[in-house]
Amino acid sequence: MKIGIAADHGGFSLKQHLLHILEADGYHITDFGAKSLDQQDDYPDYVAPLARAVAGGLVDRGIAICGSGVGAAIVANKFKGVRAALITETYSAHQGVEHDELNLICLGGRVIGPELAKEIIFAFLHARYSGEGRHQRRLDKLARIENDSFK
Ligand code: RB5
Repeated sequence: MKIGIAADHGGFSLKQHLLHILEADGYHITDFGAKSLDQQDDYPDYVAPLARAVAGGLVDRGIAICGSGVGAAIVANKFKGVRAALITETYSAHQGVEHDELNLICLGGRVIGPELAKEIIFAFLHARYSGEGRHQRRLDKLARIENDSFK
């Protein structure tokens, strides 16, 4: 599975921590930046390229981190085919994939600690979309809404 990660200054230190853990676990990660800590940087500059890569299939799952995770989620959901959500606990991290085919997880670097973030990320990455009829019906509705609003 190809993974992409991105963060602004609010999520930089958590990004570095997760990168290290995921690479040590054998994941291939593309780092969309920031590559160094810049207190003046802007989250759309890193999250948009990550979301574009998820939308285009260059990466299978994305991890976006800003201070709260809110801005990251807002940017990521501007891209057709991206299903992003701000996640703060492990149940939603896997259920979001199993039911809603969540493909880009957003975290708040100023909100959760490194150990919880690690558990959330592994719950997200280990989860698979169930493909059950009721969930697919909802995703099909979502795709129709997306097609209308991205015209
Ligand atoms: C940056 O200070 C902060 O506003 C940003 O990281 C994020 O929390 C926005 O949602």
